[in-house]
Amino acid sequence: MKKAIYAGSFDPVTLGHLDIIERASRLFDCLVVAVLENPNKNSLFTVEERKHHLELVTKHLENVEVASFRGLLADFAGAIGADVAVRGLRNAVDFAAEYQMYLINRKLGKEIETIFLAADEEHLALSSTNAKEVAVFGGNIDFMVPQEIKPYIIEKYQK
Ligand code: PNS
Repeated sequence: MKKAIYAGSFDPVTLGHLDIIERASRLFDCLVVAVLENPNKNSLFTVEERKHHLELVTKHLENVEVASFRGLLADFAGAIGADVAVRGLRNAVDFAAEYQMYLINRKLGKEIETIFLAADEEHLALSSTNAKEVAVFGGNIDFMVPQEIKPYIIEKYQK
């Protein structure tokens, strides 16, 4: 069985992430979407909230599981038996950073392969950071995040 991991912060999950998840789920028998628990990062949503959002938006995908992890991606991938890491690429800036991450992950875990999926052109300007930036000023985020999680984002900024 081919198992892949798509790791990230997902703070919050965007339509770009969801597109990569849907496409990767068609390429592998099982796709684990894994939220990084990073205590050093100031996140809008807790890890549990982010997992809940991912579960909501992937419930139509039978071979997708949602998890969280601490530490190294290569270690977590090894622990769950995933041999492929999926990453999305929007542009050359992403590529430079992702290529470094690929090289490091190869050193850390020889068994792990990385597959890059090019972002759809509709999602080239999307990021969790941009979505938060627009939401904090009450802008329209319909084209940035899945509809199901929009209320959670608005609620955070109303507090
Ligand atoms: O949502 P992001 O910020 O693009 O996700 C980045 C992530 C979580 C995939 C990456 O930071 C990661 O794998 N972190 C775990 C620590 C690790 O394994 N680092 C080694 C590569 S430098």
